[in-house]
Amino acid sequence: MERLDGKKVADALHAQTARVVAALKQQQHEAPLLVAVLVGNHAASETYVASKIKACERAGIASRLVRLPETTTQAELLAILADLNADADVDGILVQLPLPSHISETAVIEATHPAKDVDGFHPENMGRLAKNLPALAPATPAGIVAMLAHYGIETKGKTCVVVGRSNVVGTPISLLMSQNRPQGNCTVITCHSHTVDLPRYTQMADILIVAAGKPGLIGKEHVRPGAVVIDVGIHRIDAPDLPRGYRIVGDVAAEQLTDMSGWLSPVPGGVGPLTIASLLQNTLQAYSRRRGIALPNV
Ligand code: GUN
Repeated sequence: MERLDGKKVADALHAQTARVVAALKQQQHEAPLLVAVLVGNHAASETYVASKIKACERAGIASRLVRLPETTTQAELLAILADLNADADVDGILVQLPLPSHISETAVIEATHPAKDVDGFHPENMGRLAKNLPALAPATPAGIVAMLAHYGIETKGKTCVVVGRSNVVGTPISLLMSQNRPQGNCTVITCHSHTVDLPRYTQMADILIVAAGKPGLIGKEHVRPGAVVIDVGIHRIDAPDLPRGYRIVGDVAAEQLTDMSGWLSPVPGGVGPLTIASLLQNTLQAYSRRRGIALPNV
């Protein structure tokens, strides 16, 4: 299969974000401000948040990291969110997930002001997305759409099979792909852990989006030759033979698809880099809507 290069698409999006921020500053506007909240010392979360902050710096977006101990109570976190919601300087808020088990993710998501919810996780944003109204869309689905757009992949009238129904990826991407929009108008089939005979459906896919959270779930027998396969899974697998001791794999057994015709957005190097690029684009959208400042067309 040919590769869809997420890094290349992300670089183009980052460059566009940087141009917009530079133009805003030239018009004497303040830079957008993104605040990331990190609770505890989850290793992967530390890495993700550091990458988000670095991407902000590169694009000229101001950022602040609020680091909280593992022992932070839910009430303390909600009070911090109330302050950030009320702070007129703050354009975007993201609370890195997962949270310690004594804090309800639902409560935290619902306590983030929808206009500052750059993760697009708040029910108001999800509801607006479902109604095809302007909304902050979750970053990974937005990244998938950006990938399809960049490569000019025709979606209208195609069959799109989504494997997974999470709030973060499967459900919103199923909605986006079926809607009347440039990278939409697909006939969508959403599969999940209770789907009987998964290959029966996935073989129908012109576009197969896999976000099941199961390493290597999708093999050769699931894929129709010529399909566009987008792997959204991400797993650390122990690999004592490698210097860093682990390998990153997705939900697709990519090695089984090498000789097939079609396109693959692989893991790593596919939609991963696009997630951060979309988060920064959401920060610009949040800035523009809340402050009533049009984004320069650069
Ligand atoms: N943890 C894993 N992915 C994400 C994400 O997109 N946003 C946040 N806030 N936490 C995450």
